[in-house]
Parts: sequence; C-alpha cells; structure tokens
Amino acid sequence: MDIGIVMNTMRDPAGVPAHPVLFQALMVFTWVFHIAFVHLTLGAAGLSIYAFHKRAENPNWERLSIAMTKVAKVGVSLLIVLGVAPLLFTQVIYDPQWYASNVLSGRWTIAFIFTLIVAYCAWFVFYYANHEGAKRHIGLYAWVALGLFCLDGLIMHALSYQALLPDEWMRWYAPDGMLDTRGAALHAIQWPRYLFIMSLSVPAVGVYLIAYAHYFAVREDREPAYRSFAVALGRQIASWGFVLSVIPLLAWQFAHPIGSGLSRHPIGWLLVATVLALAVWVRRFPQRTHGYAPLSAGLGLLALLAVWREVIRVQLLRPFGYDITSYTVHADWPSTALFFATLLGVGGLVGGFYLTLLYRSGRVQGIYNAEPGVARLGSAAVGILGLWIAVFFIYGIWIWVRNSFL
Ligand code: HEM
Repeated sequence: MDIGIVMNTMRDPAGVPAHPVLFQALMVFTWVFHIAFVHLTLGAAGLSIYAFHKRAENPNWERLSIAMTKVAKVGVSLLIVLGVAPLLFTQVIYDPQWYASNVLSGRWTIAFIFTLIVAYCAWFVFYYANHEGAKRHIGLYAWVALGLFCLDGLIMHALSYQALLPDEWMRWYAPDGMLDTRGAALHAIQWPRYLFIMSLSVPAVGVYLIAYAHYFAVREDREPAYRSFAVALGRQIASWGFVLSVIPLLAWQFAHPIGSGLSRHPIGWLLVATVLALAVWVRRFPQRTHGYAPLSAGLGLLALLAVWREVIRVQLLRPFGYDITSYTVHADWPSTALFFATLLGVGGLVGGFYLTLLYRSGRVQGIYNAEPGVARLGSAAVGILGLWIAVFFIYGIWIWVRNSFL
C-alpha cells in the first residue's frame, strides 16, 4: 500500500475555498500567538510556584507570586482560544495527517481535554487561595496544574509529530498485522523538539517581567523597588533561559532524519543563532533599551520557530508525494472576502479596542476614564459588530432564498 496515495485520497473531496498557501501562511501566523501564550502561561505558572515557596524571604516574592498566578490564569484561557485558529487551518490543508494522528492516539486526544479542565480547575484553586499569608499546602494544586499543563503540551507534541511520520502509521495501527484500534498510546515523541519548545517558557517569563516593570512604571502603587526587583529577575531568567534552551535545540538539530537535509538547513541554524543572540543581548541589556523590546524580539523568535516547524513538515511529507499546492481548489470568493473583512474589521477594530482599553486602563490607578480616542474606538467597534451581524444574516438569508425560491 502506498501511504502517499492514501493520504491524497483522504483529503476533503470538497477541496479548499482559496489557494492552499493562504491557509498555510495563516496557520503559521496564528500558531505564533498560540505558542506565545503557552510559553507565557507555563513560565508565569512556574515562577509563581517558585515565588510562592520563597515568599518568607522577601515580601516582593509574595507579591510576584500573586501577580504571576493571575497572569497564568488569564494565559490559559488565551492559549486555548488562540489554539483554535491554527487548529482549523491545520485541518484544512493537513487533514489526512492531523486526523490520522488523532485517531491513532484517540484516548490521549480525549484525555487532553479532561486533563486541561482538571489542570485549569486546580490552577483556579491556587489562584483563590494564593493571597498574603496563604497556607503552604495550597502549592500542591499549583504543582498538579503545572504538571498537567506539561502533559497537555506533550500530547499536542505527539499529535503534531506523529502526523509527520506516515510510513509508521500502519505499524501503529496494526502491529504485527493485528488491529489495535484502542488509540491507547502516544506512538512517537521527539524529546528534543518537545523540550526545546517547552523550555522557551523560561525566557518568555523573563522578557515578560522586563515589560511588566516598564508597563507599571507610571503607577505609584508599583514602587520602584518592586519594579527593579522584577527587571533584575527578568533579565536573569531570560538570559539563562535562552542559554538553557539552546541545549535541546541543538539536540533537535541533530535528530532530524538523515537524508532529509534538515540538519543542514539554514533556518534551523538561524534559530540557534537567534536564541544565542537573545541570551547575550538580554544579559547586557542597555538601560536605554525600551522595556518592550525583548518581548517583541521573543515574538520574532517564535515566528522563526513557526516557519521552521512548517519547513520540517513540508520536507518530511514531500517524499510521500504530499504537497499542499495540489489540493483541489473550489474558489469561494464571497466567503474568502467575508473571512478577511471579519479578520480586519472585527478582529482589528473590536480586538484593537479591547487591547487598547485593557492597556490604557491597567496603567491607571483607581477608576479609568476613557480618553476621547478610546471612546471613539469603542463606538466604532460596536458599529462594526452591528454591521458584521447584519451582513452575516443577510448573506445567509439571500443564499437560502436563492436556493429555495429562485
Ligand atoms: C496547556 C495546554 C497546551 C499546551 C501546553 C500546548 C502546547 C503546544 C505545543 C508545545 C505545541 C507544539 C508541538 C510541536 O510542534 O511539537 C502545540 C501545537 C499546537 N497546539 Fe497547543 N498546547 C495546548 C493547548 C492547545 C489547545 C487547547 C489547542 C486548540 C484549541 C491547541 C492547538 C495547537 C495546534 C493547532 C498546534 C499545532 C499543531 C500542528 O502544527 O500540527 N493547543 N501546542
């Protein structure tokens, strides 16, 4: 059986509504935001636990632990929401690989959801109990949550990685010719890849701390001593974090299949160089540098990682004759136009309004009165939402009338 023919046959016969490369670009782009919040959440969770156990030493630790617990709480919801977009795009152009991988580890795919729910509940218990003078044993909930979040990352990794190994699927599905439909195993884990991606959570919380101190510089209730504590800690965590993450990255570089050419590919080495450069830059961090600069550079690194993951996928699937550009296209211009109009209009304006509002209001102590510009943005956001809902219904009703009565 030729697995390449199987994969191409498993594609959605309805095809895709626009050029496949468009979905590929959107998949890579949207994944950056998912993984950014994965890193921020895991990093903030780890730091809040560490700070929780150190709070007797210095009140700054207690304060930081409570703040990072909140960051991780919000981070989980954002990483979940932001995981949906790349998930949909993966399912559009890599549907044979993604579904095969999910079915081969079906029990783990379902367990992913339940463990995530349990982990989030445990984190909420920690969040409610982590206040001044909190009891030591509540730290246990945080450890359980962090452990389960890491397990969820492992499941995500295995599902992504198994999708790249189609010539193994039959062996996993029918070992020694006997069908095994339980989906009870995670069949393939590439530890260096998993550890590298997860390890970036350490520098992520470091660069976040530097930005955090900058953000609160205008608020009197975040005293200079606390902010200096956060910046110094952030620099240390970020620079050491980048250095440590180079170890699994190098191991990953040499774990690519021989003959794939990936170990020599320039993007992989550019990633290594970027991580090292960031380690040095954050360590030397000049005073004049803007507090958000390391965070922005970190996002650049994640964009490179996202591109690298895709280069690996394309390279590993090519020998099987799987190429997304040969996906059947049934162009549907109205829905493509509606998608981009929604992305720019609703995403840009409504999302932009929320982000601006959160950013501005968080920098004010006490009650925040929106500036005229923010108020106007709010009215425009409500207007565009109304327009979007109207277009959505008019378009649907028009298609229904056309198909049923004309
Ligand atoms: C605590 C929860 C989660 C963690 C720690 C996590 C972590 C990860 C990691 C480490 C990867 C990269 C795997 C690799 O390339 O080897 C990944 C990929 C991905 N994650 Fe998550 N994730 C979580 C939750 C979610 C959720 C809830 C969704 C969807 C709603 C999601 C959607 C995705 C998608 C679509 C990919 C890319 C798959 C691919 O390219 O084949 N993740 N995630």
